[in-house]
Amino acid sequence: MKKILLLGSGELGKEFVISAKRLGCHVIACDSYEGAPAMQVADECSIFNMLDEEALRGAIAKYRPDLIVPEVEAIRTEVLIDVEKEGYVVIPSARAANLTMNRDRIRDVAAGLGVRTARFHYAESVEELAIHAKTIGFPVVIKPVMSSSGKGQSVAKSESDLQASWVHACIGMRGDRKKVIVEEFINFEFEITLLTIRQKNGVTLFCEPIGHVQERGDYQYSWQPQPMNPEVLRAAQGMAEKVTADLGGCGLFGVEFFVTKEEVIFSELSPRPHDTGMVTLISQNLSEFDLHARAILGLPIPSIECTEGASAVVLGAREGVNPTYTGVEEALSERGIDVRIFGKPTTRPYRRMAVTLASGPNALARARTAAAKISVQ
Ligand SMILES: Nc1ncnc2c1ncn2[C@@H]1O[C@H](COP(=O)(O)OP(=O)(O)O)[C@@H](O)[C@H]1O
Ligand SMILES: [Mg+2]
Repeated sequence: MKKILLLGSGELGKEFVISAKRLGCHVIACDSYEGAPAMQVADECSIFNMLDEEALRGAIAKYRPDLIVPEVEAIRTEVLIDVEKEGYVVIPSARAANLTMNRDRIRDVAAGLGVRTARFHYAESVEELAIHAKTIGFPVVIKPVMSSSGKGQSVAKSESDLQASWVHACIGMRGDRKKVIVEEFINFEFEITLLTIRQKNGVTLFCEPIGHVQERGDYQYSWQPQPMNPEVLRAAQGMAEKVTADLGGCGLFGVEFFVTKEEVIFSELSPRPHDTGMVTLISQNLSEFDLHARAILGLPIPSIECTEGASAVVLGAREGVNPTYTGVEEALSERGIDVRIFGKPTTRPYRRMAVTLASGPNALARARTAAAKISVQ
């Protein structure tokens, strides 16, 4: 039985724990607060700040896991680099966790490999931001280099928006380094997540592309398969293979691309299951969590089968503790609809609290209709 230390215990971690437990693993779920989703289904839990070097080293020394599996970006990844040298296995690799902790390093890696990205610069002051925004040309997208789920992100249409964008980024950033990435705005036709699986003993595998829509920089609904020109898809797969090979190790990666009329552009990457990939809980024979578990355990993946499916998020509307969910019965009364309630102990406006899943024809419309029936009190 493999012992897994899961760093981060959100909804993606919860589904990963279920997959890993089905394969006989023992999981210790870690996060900074009690009762986090993955803790509800894990064997043990440990509550500490994963950005705290000493606390993280302490947890690794205490549990001596066979596999360290990061579920979030906000981890003191330098510790993972050290313990990997001591012989611990970090998924997919300590380097991957370290390079994806902030936006800038992974973007530099992609650009260094000759992968097409939106044109970008970094800025550490509003003055620098103005210089680079003018070089790139308006509109530009501004994101803190340390943030996730769209926090601190904005679009500046002209120079007069930059001050507000800078302030918004500074409020939304994690850590104390005031640094933003300023990017060319890509007027894409659609965007996709390409789930990419690196195996210990086997070729790199790809799931069917997942289409998704984001609001406030956060995912709202996703569907699979997203129809695509085969040549463009092959180009995206080539880029995903190149970047994930550079990061190394085994596991599932969520690789995000923008697709325009002319080309496919690399956006960002998570070296672990992706939120838009929750659709695979209904659309694939093996979900992204099953695939991650198999890949990290070195188990075979003979085939990935996909049928039409979609997911839609249910968001919190206000602040509260021990939230209750209404409308679940109505949502589930439709054929081919399922729901995952995350069981977070607290709620707040726009916090992701559950997801609806739909299979079969018109899956996207049906998943969204089901999500609209559910409210969190
Ligand atoms: N350069 C860009 N041009 C157009 N839209 C963008 C750009 N960068 C980000 N976005 C939009 O914002 C969303 C979130 O940005 P992303 O970089 O993926 O941040 P996060 O790490 O918070 O997911 C993207 O999925 C996309 O919809
Ligand atoms: Mg993203």
